[in-house]
Amino acid sequence: MERVTIFDTSLRDGEQSPGIALNVTEKLEIAHQLARLGVDVIEAGFPAASPGDFEGVRAIAEQVRGASVAALCRTREDDVERAWDAIKPAERPRLHTFISTSPIHREKKLRMTTEQVLAETARAVAQASAFTDDVEFSAEDATRTELAFLVEVFAAAIENGATTINVPDTVGFVMPAEFVEILDALRERVPGADRVVWSVHCHNDLGLATANSLAAVRAGARQVEVCVNGIGERAGNAALEEVVMALRTHSPTLGYETGIDTREITRTSRLVSMLSGYPVQRNKSVVGANAFSHESGIHQHGVLMERTTYEIMNPEDVGLTGSTIVLGKHSGRHAFVDAVTKLGYGGDEAAVERAFVRFKDLADRKAAVTDNDLVALVTEEASQAPSGGGVWAFEGLDVAHTTDTPPTATVRLSRDGATVAETATGDGMIDAACNAVAAAVGVVARLLSFQVAAVDEGSDAMGDVSVAVEVGGERVVARGVSVDVVEASARAFLNAVNKVVGGTAVAHRTDKP
Ligand code: KIV
Ligand code: ZN
Repeated sequence: MERVTIFDTSLRDGEQSPGIALNVTEKLEIAHQLARLGVDVIEAGFPAASPGDFEGVRAIAEQVRGASVAALCRTREDDVERAWDAIKPAERPRLHTFISTSPIHREKKLRMTTEQVLAETARAVAQASAFTDDVEFSAEDATRTELAFLVEVFAAAIENGATTINVPDTVGFVMPAEFVEILDALRERVPGADRVVWSVHCHNDLGLATANSLAAVRAGARQVEVCVNGIGERAGNAALEEVVMALRTHSPTLGYETGIDTREITRTSRLVSMLSGYPVQRNKSVVGANAFSHESGIHQHGVLMERTTYEIMNPEDVGLTGSTIVLGKHSGRHAFVDAVTKLGYGGDEAAVERAFVRFKDLADRKAAVTDNDLVALVTEEASQAPSGGGVWAFEGLDVAHTTDTPPTATVRLSRDGATVAETATGDGMIDAACNAVAAAVGVVARLLSFQVAAVDEGSDAMGDVSVAVEVGGERVVARGVSVDVVEASARAFLNAVNKVVGGTAVAHRTDKP
């Protein structure tokens, strides 16, 4: 088996998805889970983008062990220095510097000549190599770059100390066969090609990111850059779970392996979805709710006779136990903590305690509480802004609405032992509930986007609401769950507001690469 390095960029390229803005606590939680998943490299962020990005990368470098921690930087001298400052406490720090190489980017974006791009590449890689011997260089928009120039740029990077050479399909333009030709040519023509690891970074604009990544591996790439759930700029990046499970499913014929503990895939997917506010589409490969469910009678019959008639992967291999841990209202704290710990979410004791209180309430409202419900409750609680510092707790909600009267909501919130109640009206019950939350907290907040999904199946399933909210000029995303979608919306809205009033919100930067 040949080993393929999995470079996860969920916290960098993934975090550039419109509307995602993770705070340091959330980034750390995802990074710890990525390390448990077994990724080789965690690209933790782009430190020069903002103080918040720097802090996030720094915290991951200091606290997360078991994976290399990479930071992205442009070729500018101060960018490289800033990135190094952020990652130097890491067990295995990696500097990742990049510059655009395609004619369109050189002329319209950088306004640089080919000589200038070459000189910048050589200078930045040499600077990075003086800090660490693990240096990655990326030629942004490589797949639309003249091959001869790309050869020169990569040669300069290798000569100056780059150890990984990344070939990004930045705009998701290339086709698999063409990508193979590009990689074959580069590996043949770039001096020093055999001394470096070849890497690819594929965007999904034409839905080809996974196919291109796999074609590249067959053409000699030994690092693939991916994001959990395929998040990332525009249509996203190659999805970690797709690339890893394709390599694994075809390992008998292809002969590649990764260091991923695939049983952690589902948990990682749920965590990233919860904290990023990006729901996973039901029919998403590997991690979608339907990925292992069979609707037609013929399929069901086949699977009952022999699972492999319609399943090419074993659900247990991606961390789906198939079990429904049915807890009810008579289950105590011990059973709850035990179930949550078995699901792998027992780490944050305060969050588990808050989730237990909500579980008791849920068990009164829903016949059977499933493992998906538990995960939803605990991950929502774990994503809360830490209490204190102005953060409000949700206590209760009353809503009233008939076809003849305007929707009215009264919300009760508490802070430092004091409870406040505020009533507001709105265009609908969700609008009224959000207005009541804003009034109770005393902020100007506006709902920018709203999505609801069901945590499980059945009419008593909890609603899982993702919101983007503008609070005092800052844009934040958050999620909330409840059997009542209006309550889930109020909780999500409050979680967003708390990120701002608790000071843990991060401004979403749009000037990242
Ligand atoms: O898509 C891209 O080209 C990138 C690089 C910065 C690696 O994200
Ligand atoms: Zn990218």
